[in-house]
Amino acid sequence: MLSFRYRFSSFATHAPFTHSSSRRLFFLLPPQTHTTLTNISTDHSLFCLKPIKQNNGFFSIANNIHSSSSSFSKDSPFSGLEDVFVSFLFGKKKATDVAHMVWKHVVQKGDTVIDATCGNGFDTLELLNLVADDSHNGYVYALDIQKDALDKTSLLLEESLNSYQKYVKLFNICHSKMEEVVQRNASVRLVAFNLGYLPGGDKEIITRSETTLQALEAAERIVIPGGLISVVVYVGHPGGREELETVETFAARMSVEKWICCKLQMLNRPCAPIPIFLFRR
Ligand SMILES: C[S@@+](CC[C@H](N)C(=O)[O-])C[C@H]1O[C@@H](n2cnc3c(N)ncnc32)[C@H](O)[C@@H]1O
Repeated sequence: MLSFRYRFSSFATHAPFTHSSSRRLFFLLPPQTHTTLTNISTDHSLFCLKPIKQNNGFFSIANNIHSSSSSFSKDSPFSGLEDVFVSFLFGKKKATDVAHMVWKHVVQKGDTVIDATCGNGFDTLELLNLVADDSHNGYVYALDIQKDALDKTSLLLEESLNSYQKYVKLFNICHSKMEEVVQRNASVRLVAFNLGYLPGGDKEIITRSETTLQALEAAERIVIPGGLISVVVYVGHPGGREELETVETFAARMSVEKWICCKLQMLNRPCAPIPIFLFRR
């Protein structure tokens, strides 16, 4: 029997989705009695999904998604994202998959974006594919404090695209200094953080609350309206929980008029990675 608790909370205390304040908030609710519905925020709509009963007695989520129209208004940053959210709920998608899907809804060809923790380069590659266009306007700034990480990122990019240098600039620098490398007056659509240590690398070299906070503050200054700060937080390593608290506290204090802040947290998987999205209105 499926039994899980799931929480999708908004840090903002006032209606974050301006055009949908009248809608109700529903969480995906499998029919089993063990399932717990946690409704954190009753005054805003985030998404609304109803399982459909099949002939075999099982409930179909995917059919429901594909047969129903989106629960979001077209201008919602979550429009079209139900599928990936549901897959995440059921353990079929990772936190980074959710982040990538959200990026797709925010980033446009020709945009400038920052990968604040490029690591092995998977996020940078995803971003490159989103911004690269024939006019070569799109740009990814990829930052990491480890030279090893930058080497891995450039190798991955090289394998994927011959002329990636036109679109990606790598910096061996702490992300708290992102404003020093990004072109002045650049319109930054997205700053992406994938916190923690480099997979396959030295687990002692991790992102730290203090510099993460400084980097978030820098990101807040440079992200343009309609943009996003995306953070995937890992709490399974020493310092991870403290870092989560730092990100949450930062997000909770952001202006409700300017930012929509939310996180996706599995309540019965305490070490599961946590995607956090800070949308600039
Ligand atoms: C989880 S990994 C990132 C994974 C990466 N985005 C990918 O797609 O493979 C975290 C990375 O953050 C880097 N890092 C740690 N502290 C940092 C800092 N202050 N500034 C920039 N990068 C940092 C680590 O070196 C590590 O490579």
